[in-house]
Amino acid sequence: MNKKIAVYPGSFDPVTNGHLDIITRSSELFDRLIVGVLKNTSKPCTFAISERIAMLASCTRGINNVYVAGFDGLLVDFMKQHKARVIVRGLRAISDFEYEFQMALMNRNLYPQVETVFLMTDEHYSYLSSSIVKELAGFNADIKSFVPRSVMPYLNKQRTARAKKYSDSSKTIVKKRRKH
Ligand code: COA
Repeated sequence: MNKKIAVYPGSFDPVTNGHLDIITRSSELFDRLIVGVLKNTSKPCTFAISERIAMLASCTRGINNVYVAGFDGLLVDFMKQHKARVIVRGLRAISDFEYEFQMALMNRNLYPQVETVFLMTDEHYSYLSSSIVKELAGFNADIKSFVPRSVMPYLNKQRTARAKKYSDSSKTIVKKRRKH
């Protein structure tokens, strides 16, 4: 089994510059880094799995040893399938620690050969999350410095769809009011 294959798992809904920082730095530590995109997350995703994979594939195109793949089910099964023993996770703040500690121990319990390696997130991205980025995009805030360029068209499309939905629903309210 190759020790130098690592998996960086997540929902990446969408990938942010914080994720990209972890991907870039860990790609230098391992022979191969597989970014594992969880298909059916317990939280509802804004972007389809194909879109999340396309965004990641596009922004990691220049890093030769990075591969992007979707997965379903247990992370440890995905690791076994790819003969990987190392899970990479980014730590943004102390508040991440408890959840990460629990996951690392559970994954080791399920697959004793596995090790979880934590990288400290770059301080510029310590407050970032995919949800915050989506919320800011929804309010037309400038998010160019938070996400890779490949993500912008997807967020713009989502913003347009959201604006249309709100404008359609406000027309319905106006129509309803007029009836009375
Ligand atoms: N920079 C910016 N944002 C980051 C970040 C970083 N370095 N690291 C994490 N985040 C953000 C993510 O974007 C995400 O934001 P959101 O909640 O707004 O979407 C949030 O922090 C949580 O990220 P993460 O902890 O990676 O959760 P996730 O849902 O992306 O991924 C899995 C969780 C996929 C790793 C985990 O659910 C899993 O392994 N599932 C498979 C099933 C399994 O094996 N379960 C047993 C595990 S013990």
